[in-house]
Amino acid sequence: MIPLSVAQVAEATGAVQADVADRAALITGPVVIDSREVGPGSLFVALPGSRTDGHEFARAALAAGATAVLANRPVGGPALIVPDVQAALGKLARAVIDRAPGLTVLGITGSAGKTTTKDLTAQLIETLGPTVAPHESFNNEIGHPLTVLKITEQTRYLVSELSARGLGHIAALCEIAPPRLGAVLCVGLAHAGEFGSLDRVAEAKGELPAALPADGVAVLNADDHRVAAMAAGTAARVVTFGRSGQADVRAQRVRLNDAGKPVFILVTSSGSAPVQLRLHGEHNVSNALAAAALAGELGMPVDAVAAGLSAAVARSRWRMEVTQLPDGVTVINDAYNASPDSMKAAISALASMARSGRAYAVLGQMAELGAKADQLHEAVGAQAAAADVAGLIVVGGNAAPMLAGTKAVPSWQGELLHVPDADAAVQALGDRLRRGDVVLVKASHSVGLEAVALALTGEERAGEEGPRG
Ligand SMILES: Nc1ncnc2c1ncn2[C@@H]1O[C@H](COP(=O)(O)OP(=O)(O)OP(=O)(O)O)[C@@H](O)[C@H]1O
Ligand SMILES: [Mg+2]
Repeated sequence: MIPLSVAQVAEATGAVQADVADRAALITGPVVIDSREVGPGSLFVALPGSRTDGHEFARAALAAGATAVLANRPVGGPALIVPDVQAALGKLARAVIDRAPGLTVLGITGSAGKTTTKDLTAQLIETLGPTVAPHESFNNEIGHPLTVLKITEQTRYLVSELSARGLGHIAALCEIAPPRLGAVLCVGLAHAGEFGSLDRVAEAKGELPAALPADGVAVLNADDHRVAAMAAGTAARVVTFGRSGQADVRAQRVRLNDAGKPVFILVTSSGSAPVQLRLHGEHNVSNALAAAALAGELGMPVDAVAAGLSAAVARSRWRMEVTQLPDGVTVINDAYNASPDSMKAAISALASMARSGRAYAVLGQMAELGAKADQLHEAVGAQAAAADVAGLIVVGGNAAPMLAGTKAVPSWQGELLHVPDADAAVQALGDRLRRGDVVLVKASHSVGLEAVALALTGEERAGEEGPRG
């Protein structure tokens, strides 16, 4: 982070200092919420958690070398006391941004594809200068400021992922690190239960273009009418991307190769160049175009963008993560999360990848869909049947409407199974899979279906992820 003294952090956050012996002591980072990540010069942020209260780890953090603790009460060592620790974290991040005049902030939002696009964008612009980007999906009121606090005096670009579970969330994240470039990917049904309607989702995502300055750039998806309409709500110059012939940055001659990876010609106003993505599924064309538009606006030539996209890998796990097993079975671990849009995209990728074998879909609940949940799960069952999967394994009671959904395709002759949990799904697959088969595993994060994919690939279950939203 850009070093600040304890006194400067106190000023930035409005904190009262307690047990501080040296006001000039420097906080050099990392700023952490997990005491196990503390190092010399750290600021430990004591957040009240759902399971444990960070304040209980304050002493351990100080013993491990933290310069101070940001807390809501004295902790028996150097502390900066504020009434609302999370709000203070945001203020601190803003104070650091204000000390980085040469930094360009990019924001990426949308109902699906934020992390993928963030990872693609970071891999492109890292070649232009030192870049900081979030770990995984650090995209909310905690993960976003923690990411901001990773910048140093050398950092030239900050790629941020901005999420919303309600109105005002993205505006608040933009307040912490005001973006000059902002991309909106799509308006979809993820978290629809909390928003109520797609128009509300659009209103929330529209807070990013609305926050951009007049000398900024709003990168908007021409293929999503709710996103395209955000052009009216920004002071920034608008650059569009998409499959539409009208888009400023577009893809032509899109096809999927035999491995299910998109191949296309990237077309921009300054030229065109061929791209072959290393990611799977046609939906990633759209994510790649958004990354291309952002990088292009930062001055990257189209050839370099195309080469960078063709070299970029998935940095965040369990998103269309494809593993070829020695026994000839292909596993698609897309168990990081699920929404109606990403289910549709994944089923279509599954179908394209199983051209020479059989497709199996192991699908669980899509959480947070509100009143339309049953109907949306039925639609997924219908999509799997329409994709002519050899087997649909529905996991858990919450996903049961998928079973009925398959009836919408009376000609479908695949096998339909309902199993209670991940273990049962693994067992069912074990008897069925053979060489050439492709298995998609997908559900909301809370279902924990990655266990199925990891059992198939023989990996240990990885640790839990950090803050996200
Ligand atoms: N453009 C897209 N359209 C539909 N589905 C997509 C798109 N991009 C990614 N996905 C799928 O959505 C899921 C989540 O992808 P990703 O993690 O990139 O999105 P996110 O917006 O960061 O999600 P979160 O809200 O959990 O942070 C994955 O299953 C991915 O394959
Ligand atoms: Mg994400």
